[in-house]
Amino acid sequence: MILITGVSSLPGYKTAVKLASASLEVLGIYNQHPVSGVNAIKWDLLNDAVGLIRQYKPNVVIHMAAMGDVDGCEINTEQCYRLNVEVTRNVAKGAYAVGARLIYLSTDYVFDGSRGMYRESDAPRPINYYGLTKLLGEEAVLAMSGTVVRVAWIYGLGPGKPNFGKTVVEKLSRGEEVRAIVDQWGSPTLNTLIAEVMAKLLGREFEGILHAAGPRLSRFEFAKAIAEYFSFPTSLIKPIYMRDISYKAPRPRDSSLDSSLAVKMLGVPINDIKYALEILKREWETQAHATGLG
Ligand SMILES: NC(=O)c1ccc[n+]([C@@H]2O[C@H](COP(=O)([O-])OP(=O)(O)OC[C@H]3O[C@@H](n4cnc5c(N)ncnc54)[C@H](OP(=O)(O)O)[C@@H]3O)[C@@H](O)[C@H]2O)c1
Repeated sequence: MILITGVSSLPGYKTAVKLASASLEVLGIYNQHPVSGVNAIKWDLLNDAVGLIRQYKPNVVIHMAAMGDVDGCEINTEQCYRLNVEVTRNVAKGAYAVGARLIYLSTDYVFDGSRGMYRESDAPRPINYYGLTKLLGEEAVLAMSGTVVRVAWIYGLGPGKPNFGKTVVEKLSRGEEVRAIVDQWGSPTLNTLIAEVMAKLLGREFEGILHAAGPRLSRFEFAKAIAEYFSFPTSLIKPIYMRDISYKAPRPRDSSLDSSLAVKMLGVPINDIKYALEILKREWETQAHATGLG
């Protein structure tokens, strides 16, 4: 059985659906946001993560639950530490106790963003509390020979928090302008492709860190690519700068990830923006059709 924490998040839900559709036994864990269409239960990991794993004895644990609110982590450091560090340590303890393989979803925010196109061997240096806690979570996973999959700027449809890619499509489809930052770079990653990466990873042994993210783009370039791909006017994308936004937590300027190892090893074109946007467009049209908007 494959236990997926954070099943109500953007990457968690798609991963659960993908693995279940391959006839694998999946159990998803949510806390405040129930999901439908996949086998899932409510469980507060802050109460007892080890007990959950001991009870269900999965073969694989894919740990995606976290406090993903970067500014929230800067304000509520205690809650952020408990979820991202202590829960991850307990998940690792539980996985070790039952002999389960552990795969952990981590982030580009472990890097300071001074250079970009980071490889797995590059030294992390977080500049915000979220990044620090995710890095400490990575250490717990690596200590028990687990797999750390770093992704970035997750976008897509499905359950989970609002995301830039989806907002761009929604606004442009209504003819509204989109303000997008010109001088901040990352690797926008489609949730559906994270699910593909997880499915492929299950088919092979791999210990250590793997970068599995989209191509290096600024938010402005990303929004323009969406507009072009969806045939919306690119003139609706308006440039803004990092200095125009007041974040609680500092953001890396260029935290893009080099995912060539994952592409070569798993054969998933995770860093191909056309491949990703084609999937997003198909999902968007299916959703619009299902809701009678298409
Ligand atoms: N967003 C990004 O761009 C990004 C980039 C890189 C990596 N990641 C990683 O992707 C994963 C998902 O993050 P997200 O940003 O999509 O955040 P999110 O929407 O806030 O998702 C957090 C997930 O954790 C679950 N969770 C939180 N507290 C819990 C608790 N006490 N017990 C059980 N489950 C709990 C939530 O469940 P409920 O909603 O049901 O409470 C939700 O499924 C995280 O590991 C994050 O570090 C995200």
